[in-house]
Amino acid sequence: KLIYVLNGPNLNLLGKRQPEIYGHETLADVQKRMEKKGDALGLEIAFFQSNHEGELVDIIHQAREQAAGIVINPAAYSHTSVAILDALNTFEGPVVEVHISNIHKREAFRHHSYVSSRAEGVIAGLGTLGYVLALDYFAQ
Ligand code: DQA
Repeated sequence: KLIYVLNGPNLNLLGKRQPEIYGHETLADVQKRMEKKGDALGLEIAFFQSNHEGELVDIIHQAREQAAGIVINPAAYSHTSVAILDALNTFEGPVVEVHISNIHKREAFRHHSYVSSRAEGVIAGLGTLGYVLALDYFAQ
């Protein structure tokens, strides 16, 4: 089973970006952890990051042909992007939304995510562990 893992804007700076909120692990560290966990669970991981909304839409379209499921941290686009929601609605498999921080504990504008209405489940606030836990969902 191939699982697409999509990361939205500014997550390329994970580890350097507001570490008091997002921690010290880099996105490359997250990718390595997911690949390791994927190996153990028999899941193949295709890992992406983009700072561009349209590029994320294109990657979701690519997932339509290829992926059994999607793990997505849409980052700031969670709170703004109908385009990413619409793209996910063209994908037939399950979607898990991940946020490193607990968006419900933060500013009010982060409390709503357009993607959540499409996601099977949402994991928020457990740090980068959320990405790894999402793979357990796809394995079962
Ligand atoms: C985030 C939370 C978003 O509100 C924020 O814009 C991000 C990261 C998270 O993983 O906690 O960039 O999605």
